[in-house]
Amino acid sequence: MYQAHSVTELRQYVQHWNEHGQSIAFIPTMGNLHAGHMSLISKGQSLCDRSLCSIFVNPMQFGANEDFNHYPRTLDDDLAKLAASGCDLVYLPTASELYPEGLDRISQVQVTDLTDHYEGAHRPGHFTGVATVVLKLFNIVKPDVSVFGKKDYQQYRVISKMVADLNLDVQIIGQETTREASGLATSSRNQYLDEEQTRKASMIYQTLRNSAEQISAGERDYLEMERRALARLQDAGFETDYFAICSAETLLPASQEDRDLVILVTAGLGTTRLLDNIEISLW
Ligand code: PAF
Repeated sequence: MYQAHSVTELRQYVQHWNEHGQSIAFIPTMGNLHAGHMSLISKGQSLCDRSLCSIFVNPMQFGANEDFNHYPRTLDDDLAKLAASGCDLVYLPTASELYPEGLDRISQVQVTDLTDHYEGAHRPGHFTGVATVVLKLFNIVKPDVSVFGKKDYQQYRVISKMVADLNLDVQIIGQETTREASGLATSSRNQYLDEEQTRKASMIYQTLRNSAEQISAGERDYLEMERRALARLQDAGFETDYFAICSAETLLPASQEDRDLVILVTAGLGTTRLLDNIEISLW
């Protein structure tokens, strides 16, 4: 596996592949790679000739009260996993190259509508940081395909909207969430859960599935269902920001006419905030 540390270096590899007519799948990450990331890479590999992964803990998407400095950095381990996966190239940009004049001076990408609620409301500026760095990375790498995990459903939709709104020439693929045997969505944050919390955390997906089954069986009082699910999670000791039954297209509260739904949830245990979701098709 090749490593590129600068834009110039990266472009040499990409140019070589372009000259040989090889397509490129790009998987942007912040490192601390787990089975979920590996599934994004193998999806990319199934679609393109070459796979390229970036590792960059993006300071722009962290809020003032979020601990950028303590984000887990496990580079050696990540490189070993990437090499074993057959990834062709890892790009390891530096903050000084991506933000040469600092975070305050960089032009920003603000994706409209989809960023107003949920994570956008709880983490002001987060999606601007994500969209800005992803657009920069797309412009540097110029991939044919880029794969995002549906575990961060709102992020996946925000990136898809940015690509559509700005006519970017890259195909965005949403990859299904990787789960533990208990149903718990695979996440870097799971490592912060103790044994008891890990056991309890499986309730999040159970609650999502429960609601999805009720909707598929014809229940339509979404507000009441949200209230019940929140109460169930809170009674079990979770801190919940939202359990929202939404239109999968707009991410606004689902109406009776919507046929493609998604339920978005965050549930905190101790200091760990877990995100999950489930898609429901009523066609
Ligand atoms: O999902 C992530 O790891 C990050 O938000 C991303 C897409 C790599 C941008 O920094």
